[in-house]
Amino acid sequence: MLKLGVNVDHVATVRQARLAKYPNPLDAALICEKSGAWGITAHLREDRRHINDHDLTELKNNVKFLNMEMAATAEMLDIAIKLKPNSCCLVPEKRQELTTEGGLDVIGNTAYLSDAVKRLQEAGIIVSIFIDPDLEQIKAAQYAGADYIELHTGAFSNCEGAAQRVELDRLIKAANYAHSIELKVNAGHGIDYWNIAGILEIPHLQELNIGHSIIARAVMTGMENAVREMISLMRPYSK
Ligand code: PXP
Repeated sequence: MLKLGVNVDHVATVRQARLAKYPNPLDAALICEKSGAWGITAHLREDRRHINDHDLTELKNNVKFLNMEMAATAEMLDIAIKLKPNSCCLVPEKRQELTTEGGLDVIGNTAYLSDAVKRLQEAGIIVSIFIDPDLEQIKAAQYAGADYIELHTGAFSNCEGAAQRVELDRLIKAANYAHSIELKVNAGHGIDYWNIAGILEIPHLQELNIGHSIIARAVMTGMENAVREMISLMRPYSK
């Protein structure tokens, strides 16, 4: 079964837009779990633009499976090792970006990332690395000791037609390669209620991490309906 991890960052984005006390990402996370989500994902960014340290602690103490997205900086590594989320997904981070723009360059940072992966694993945390569907980066992620890769589906999500087919074929090839070298495969970024049909063509997927589209739909139909609808679209997955 393909698992759904709901990224609740944008619940906190709504709160931070007015520097209010609500809505609470933990309340949203608990509804996601009740509605069938397997896990909860939250990205603690350096600038704390949405999720903050308190949110993360509350999530860790109350949800069944917490995946913390983070840059592999000294500050974030210390926070994660202390907090012990169930898993960490290492992502690149630029202050000016609206969202995570590309995958991590594992090839150019292998020694540093190997050390970060080891420290997290020694704290009992499963480690995933967010990368573009590039075979050399995947090989480097395995070399760095990651348990999982999360394939960046942003390029696929941002185009249509023939160009989207090309991106989907890259993702399929990348997932097959990762599986062949015994890396587990997740995927995420830009996945919505329309392009999910294409995502289901990617083999060997364990988990999809989806945020923006679910939170956006929840504004219209409620969190429970938004999560249930995405799960029902994921159910035919058979690869
Ligand atoms: N996976 C990773 C590693 C991400 O950085 C993000 C965005 O925070 C997501 C999944 C979710 O992306 P989206 O909000 O576009 O669904």
